[in-house]
Amino acid sequence: MISFNKEQIFIVTGASSGLGEGTALLLNELGATVVGIARNEERLNAMKAKCKYPENMHLEIRDLTEDIENLPSYVKELKNKYGKFQGLAYCAGIGEIAPLQIVDLTQMKKIFDINYFAPVFMIKGFADRRNNTGNRASVVVISSISGIKSDKGHTSYSGSKAAIVASCKCMARELANSNVRINCVSPSDVKTPMTAGKIEEENSKYPFGCGDVSDVANMIIYLLSDKSKWITMQNYIIDCGYM
Ligand SMILES: NC(=O)c1ccc[n+]([C@@H]2O[C@H](COP(=O)([O-])OP(=O)(O)OC[C@H]3O[C@@H](n4cnc5c(N)ncnc54)[C@H](OP(=O)(O)O)[C@@H]3O)[C@@H](O)[C@H]2O)c1
Repeated sequence: MISFNKEQIFIVTGASSGLGEGTALLLNELGATVVGIARNEERLNAMKAKCKYPENMHLEIRDLTEDIENLPSYVKELKNKYGKFQGLAYCAGIGEIAPLQIVDLTQMKKIFDINYFAPVFMIKGFADRRNNTGNRASVVVISSISGIKSDKGHTSYSGSKAAIVASCKCMARELANSNVRINCVSPSDVKTPMTAGKIEEENSKYPFGCGDVSDVANMIIYLLSDKSKWITMQNYIIDCGYM
């Protein structure tokens, strides 16, 4: 049984929706303190209204693609406000299908900013010894099976998802001496607002149908917890056997 205590503080990005919301709520339910980050205050408040221990759920409004290079300072500010962090779940992200003929640098940069550059700089801030507990601190980043398999229109999205897995493995190797673990999870089709309206047609691809938020959130919680203390530099595919 995984449990946390309120002195264990976790940053969850993308906490206003989908997989980030599910992860934030589950961490909170299991006893941890959560700092949930997203842009949409209304949806963040709606998430908080559902949580079991609202006193241990803190909300931060931030566009993570603004001033990416200073995200390490932002993590330091959060540490000064809330205390040293035990973990970071990077669940923010966007998906956008764009055929090659409409791909340009602006479109690619939009995807890479939130799916690749922001997580790297959030991890850089988290990894600073002054900002994490140094006690088996753990980072989990949501990639996607799109980082492994090919699809039409996925040039930018797949590229961002493959790139973050590659960089996470390098950062994990570099940070192992600091007692920081980093892992990725790569889901396929999960029912969230991101996939709303287009998920039903995917159901038949999977023996048990498309995934629920909890199918991914439970894995993230395991990887954030001490139960996975010997696991780092991995990328877990969560796709009901599709690949
Ligand atoms: N759902 C799936 O089937 C699936 C499959 C594989 C991988 N994934 C990946 O899982 C992650 C989460 O997906 P989801 O399905 O949970 O999507 P979602 O429901 O659309 O949630 C995305 C979250 O990211 C936040 N976000 C987006 N841009 C942001 C920005 N610039 N600054 C701060 N926060 C930002 C959003 O918050 P605000 O809008 O409030 O800022 C929202 O909380 C994504 O990386 C996605 O690629 C999802």
